[in-house]
Amino acid sequence: MRQGEASMTARHVAAYRQSFPRVARPYGDPDADQRLQADVAGDIQPPATPMARYLRARTAFFDRTVVDAIDGGTVQLVVVGAGYDGRSLRYAKPEVRWFELDHPDTQADKRARLADLGIDATHVGFAAADFTADDPAAALRRAGHDPSQPSLYLCEGVAGYLTNGVVAGLLASLRSGAAVGSSFAITVSLEPRPDDEATTRTLLDAAVSRMGEPLASSLPRAELRPFFRASGWTVVRATDPAGVEIGESGRNAAFVVASAGASRGAG
Ligand SMILES: C[S@@+](CC[C@H](N)C(=O)[O-])C[C@H]1O[C@@H](n2cnc3c(N)ncnc32)[C@H](O)[C@@H]1O
Repeated sequence: MRQGEASMTARHVAAYRQSFPRVARPYGDPDADQRLQADVAGDIQPPATPMARYLRARTAFFDRTVVDAIDGGTVQLVVVGAGYDGRSLRYAKPEVRWFELDHPDTQADKRARLADLGIDATHVGFAAADFTADDPAAALRRAGHDPSQPSLYLCEGVAGYLTNGVVAGLLASLRSGAAVGSSFAITVSLEPRPDDEATTRTLLDAAVSRMGEPLASSLPRAELRPFFRASGWTVVRATDPAGVEIGESGRNAAFVVASAGASRGAG
């Protein structure tokens, strides 16, 4: 990210997401989310590229993960690297507490926009942290996160911008404040195998580099599960954007769901 500026890639995601179908629920305020996305998108016109198809699948995956958790009784959700994600508005529910953890520059811009738009976000605990320098779990605690209560953590489109070392530190820190029964849904970039995926990643890297946010990491496919295990999380599902189990897929984008089990480091 450029020093002192909100994330441009986060603004572009918001521009894409405006037009995607969303999972509907009787609770929440989807209109507030749409107003935020429109404000953030401004005059950005996202092109109809393979990126749009990927982001559409990614949006559906995180929507479904969120509503399944809320409908299943989860009352604490943490959006990690939240950007302009408006799920804390779209799926707000009286008994559910939301937290947004993000870089201070992006979060300050989002909060200013919410205030300007007159959108009530008092049910959201905002925690600012630079994942390369600060302790994310400590920032969350200061915002009121309850480490004795299971949480769903969401980390969408963030890991690829951080080094593997920073992602490992982020996972370990959050695990230290996660009750047994917590889950982590996260997108992870894998090292490409087929040529076409390498080309897609090269195009994406060129696009995000122009926004000052070059891709920083990817994981070898075989190291996905050990990588999470080393930070105290057990991978329970890893699929590609089409829902194919990642071991069977040639694609390099993984949608991962991991759990915080009773025995840390196991699994
Ligand atoms: C591509 S955006 C994705 C935002 C959101 N999750 C979404 O899908 O719309 C990347 C996010 O990572 C955050 N980020 C990047 N580097 C960070 C860092 N060092 N510390 C904290 N957050 C960071 C940015 O502020 C931004 O919100």
